Amino acid sequence: MTDAFSELNPPPRLLMGPGPVGVDPRVLRAMSMPMLGQFDPAFTAYMNDTMELLRQIYRTKNQWSLVVDGTARAGIEAILVSLIAPGDKVLVPIFGRFGHLLAEIASRCGGNVTTIEREWGTVFTPDEIEDAIKQHRPRIVALVHGDTSTTMAQPLAEIGPMCRARDIILYSDATATIGGMPVEVDAWQLDAVSGGLQKCLSGPPGSAPITFNERVATIAKHRKHLEAGIKPPGFVDGNGPRVQSNYFDLAMLMDYWSELRLNHHTEATSMLYATREAVRIALQEGLDARFARHRLASDAITAGFRSMGLELFGDQSNKMPNVTGVVVPRGVKPDGVRKMMLDDFGIEIGTSFGPLHGKIWRVGTMGYVCRKENVLICLGALEACLRRFGFKPPAGAGVDAALAVYGKAR
Ligand SMILES: Cc1ncc(COP(=O)(O)O)c(C=O)c1O
Repeated sequence: MTDAFSELNPPPRLLMGPGPVGVDPRVLRAMSMPMLGQFDPAFTAYMNDTMELLRQIYRTKNQWSLVVDGTARAGIEAILVSLIAPGDKVLVPIFGRFGHLLAEIASRCGGNVTTIEREWGTVFTPDEIEDAIKQHRPRIVALVHGDTSTTMAQPLAEIGPMCRARDIILYSDATATIGGMPVEVDAWQLDAVSGGLQKCLSGPPGSAPITFNERVATIAKHRKHLEAGIKPPGFVDGNGPRVQSNYFDLAMLMDYWSELRLNHHTEATSMLYATREAVRIALQEGLDARFARHRLASDAITAGFRSMGLELFGDQSNKMPNVTGVVVPRGVKPDGVRKMMLDDFGIEIGTSFGPLHGKIWRVGTMGYVCRKENVLICLGALEACLRRFGFKPPAGAGVDAALAVYGKAR
């Protein structure tokens, strides 16, 4: 039994699940920097830096690119609760667990929610979404970009213009994709996007970088109701329905993150440092180089799995490069293999949810962890574990195939 008062000493792990993943040491270092007061000009300058870094990673000119303190779902909730007034029609196309989450949150916000569903492992065609829009005439479409539960990425480039032409607000959850594959907020005409730090940005969970344009800002301002204790003299509340959440009210967050610096929450100082550093690292690498690194790891690890005789899950043409679904071979105990990976090799791979529970493993190659040596170590370890559980891949085939992919890329 562990001593509750002993010093923390987490076991070293290689986190190759769908997130969280290993944190870049530079981010950990940034988090150990001294506290500053939230209105210290040195700190507000860091907040402004972070806004500019987020604009660059989201490839947007949106002024409103900021951080919601909380895990990725805090970003989702802030956007949805500020956008959706009770009774608003919301369309949520669902192709995995996180689409269900968006529908759930939208309905808690009082939205009149319609869902359309796709079999897990596939994504929607633009026509399917357009048909649903024509039929249901929503005010808001909420759509996951990369659904970590199925490893699929929904192409968005055609959905944005389709929504804009009808004056529909399009929100997308890019938690699993930001920093690992393109998220082209302006080019794809996405009105609001949220992300997380703990996947391809390789920070700890607890920060939700979001961005939204003036269309969304206008809706939020229309619903603006300030707390009595901070209301400047003469301030007139918006005439829209008050946002149900104080913490997640985008209008109040905008006042806090703008030169007004109107007090709201106390910014989570260390998480702000972490976000600033994580995004800075991604941009220093160069986004295109970073995406290519994820793509190459995906090519290598999928070649490795295939050479081991394993089947990949889902429509591979829409698979995210940062996470791969592997079908558990018949007769193999999925949790037994995961446990052996963890206990004997210190490697975490992911289980799965809902209809995929026990049917696939999810192996992540995200951010700082997305490196050749980790791909090779994971394939070698998995081969050994599979052998123990009765599935016998050709010896060395996985590592050889991955090495060949890396070799060709040189
Ligand atoms: C696509 C997607 N959206 C939202 C979330 C929720 O993130 P969090 O657990 O940080 O709140 C996750 C987490 O895995 C995710 O993968």
